[in-house]
Amino acid sequence: MAKGHYQAVFERSLQDPNGFWAEAAENVHWHKKWDKVLDDSNPPFYRWFAGGQLNTCYNALDLHIDNGRGDQPALIYDSPVTNKIKTFSYRELRDKVATFAGALAAQGVGKGDRVIIYMPMVPQALVAMLACARLGAVHSVVFGGFAPNELAVRIDDAKPKVVVSASCGIEVARVIPYKPLLDEAIRLARHKPDKCIILQRPMERAELVAGRDLDWREAMDAAAPHDCVPVAATDPLYILYTSGTTGQPKGVVRDNGGHVVALKWTMKNIYGVDPGDVYWAASDVGWVVGHSYIVYGPLFNGNTTVLFEGKPVGTPDAGTFWRVISQHKVKVMFTAPTAFRAIKKEDPNGEFIKKYDLSQFKTLFLAGERCDPDTLEWAQNHLGVPVIDHWWQTETGWAICANCMGLESLPVKPGSPTKPAPGMDVRVVDENNKEVKRGDIGALVIKLPLPPGTFPTLWNADQRFVDAYLSEFPGYHKTADAGYIDEGGYVFVMSRTDDIINVAGHRLSTGGMEEVLAAHPDVAECAVIGVDDQLKGQLPLGFLVLKAGVARDHSEIVGEVVKMVRERIGTVAAFRTATVVGRLPKTRSGKILRGTMQKIANGQDYKMPATIDDPVILDEITVALKGVGYPGSG
Ligand code: COA
Ligand code: AMP
Repeated sequence: MAKGHYQAVFERSLQDPNGFWAEAAENVHWHKKWDKVLDDSNPPFYRWFAGGQLNTCYNALDLHIDNGRGDQPALIYDSPVTNKIKTFSYRELRDKVATFAGALAAQGVGKGDRVIIYMPMVPQALVAMLACARLGAVHSVVFGGFAPNELAVRIDDAKPKVVVSASCGIEVARVIPYKPLLDEAIRLARHKPDKCIILQRPMERAELVAGRDLDWREAMDAAAPHDCVPVAATDPLYILYTSGTTGQPKGVVRDNGGHVVALKWTMKNIYGVDPGDVYWAASDVGWVVGHSYIVYGPLFNGNTTVLFEGKPVGTPDAGTFWRVISQHKVKVMFTAPTAFRAIKKEDPNGEFIKKYDLSQFKTLFLAGERCDPDTLEWAQNHLGVPVIDHWWQTETGWAICANCMGLESLPVKPGSPTKPAPGMDVRVVDENNKEVKRGDIGALVIKLPLPPGTFPTLWNADQRFVDAYLSEFPGYHKTADAGYIDEGGYVFVMSRTDDIINVAGHRLSTGGMEEVLAAHPDVAECAVIGVDDQLKGQLPLGFLVLKAGVARDHSEIVGEVVKMVRERIGTVAAFRTATVVGRLPKTRSGKILRGTMQKIANGQDYKMPATIDDPVILDEITVALKGVGYPGSG
């Protein structure tokens, strides 16, 4: 591709967003074309393709069948944990989706109704998502590693008519029964779904509640296929809850029209894949990466998508990724750096890589957390393909910054996700909302309006949307990441500006964990920080101040709070370490100095905060951290 092509496309996307995205939208099937490309009549609420009507499922499946791709594989399910590989053609997948849409409709699910999907990485999870899209219903997928309480919070917010779940998930060799978690969540929730449709897996069969629960297979057998229901481009396709600064997650909304247009555009222009190519995102359908790049993007583009039910290591070994790439002829793969750190730890010399023919593999994309240059270089050296770090978040649904391989392969700078993607007007501002000089660190923000496919609002929470994202830096979307742009226009994402930590690519709120610790009867005060970890990037670490007079063994209390976080938030939080301290370091106005504690734990230099109430406490914190192994080798 010609030098300067990226820059030309990027500039056009900002100068003429209407023309740019209208052109991309020509590639999508519309039941009715839009009246307006960008409706900016009610800022800061922007709407794309207002007046247009389409169906997301039609664009993902039926369109390709109509265009002669019916026999092409749409989905390869590869499950080392069950020893199964199964391929579904576009026609087979469409037929299953249409039938499940019929099953949902038979339970009264229609346009605008919500359906929660709490499932492991099985094809039925995709079938359920696409069936909702077919009906114009709104799905909300909840990641399987979340505990009943987190699921209950989401049930109460989304108020689903139906929940779709499975009897169990499989974590390496361990069977995790999902159904008891679902039953407990429904018991805890104020809102009760009318029905649950349960996929019975042979490793663990679930007890069904008479009158409420239906067996997936029976529901399918009884259903008649349902056709695609046209919806407004601006209607919601899904809600995906993501960690916010409290225990109350934010319901990120995705619309139908902008989503199809943007994701289809990214497949060719960012990832460089053509219809027919095999594309694999090794993530989970419970996360945004799974929504955008296991399910929707590749299917909109007529690719073959891989659904992998396994881990980078241990299922059965550190060569499993290369086996999948080679066996299914994957052209482009997308995963989180943590997966590569796990592989690198087990196979530092890349011996497994040498055993497979990876000749058709062209590019590796990484995202979800900061990509450390060591991991990037290890992957580059051993795979011999471009390794592209790209930066995005649940809110944006697709890359904010990337090396757009379909436009022009720019030189890679380790530590940088390269340059803003077309449509993403990224700036760095100071606390007064003034742009800083190139090279200076500040808040990373994106000028409004955000491009299509990003979030138009939060579910039932317009004001929270404005307060959380748009008020601190008027005119911009606050990404809550800090970083800088260098002289060459490369963006560097350094850290979060809020309480979010990134554990093995999973986004978690330390505020949410603090709420759990504070609920322990012996705890007077607490703090949770993220500490560096060589494998998972970050791990949570808790500090507990006990109530006066509590004389119990500290290790017992720590054990109890660890169990509480596991039970209330989930195993995925990986909260395993806490330490009891006499006091927490605070400013004179009472703000806990979490950033300073984090620096001590990570063995970094820190400046004594000018506003600290009592500097001696930091010595006590240092001693307590040494007691639990920090600073470690993270
Ligand atoms: N259902 C139930 N439990 C789950 C789960 C799920 N879907 N996913 C994770 N868990 C559990 C794990 O079993 C583990 O439980 P344990 O504490 O009892 O052992 C815990 O949650 C933590 O899991 P995880 O973070 O996956 O750690 P791990 O040590 O099992 O594996 C990695 C480490 C790096 C191999 C793994 O995290 C990984 O593959 N990460 C990639 C992340 C990713 O795809 N992120 C999406 C953004 S692109
Ligand atoms: P999530 O919403 O779970 O996708 O998490 C989004 C957050 O993960 C971002 O706001 C960043 O903090 C972090 N993140 C994602 N990708 C990258 C990246 N390539 N580099 C640095 N941080 C990243």
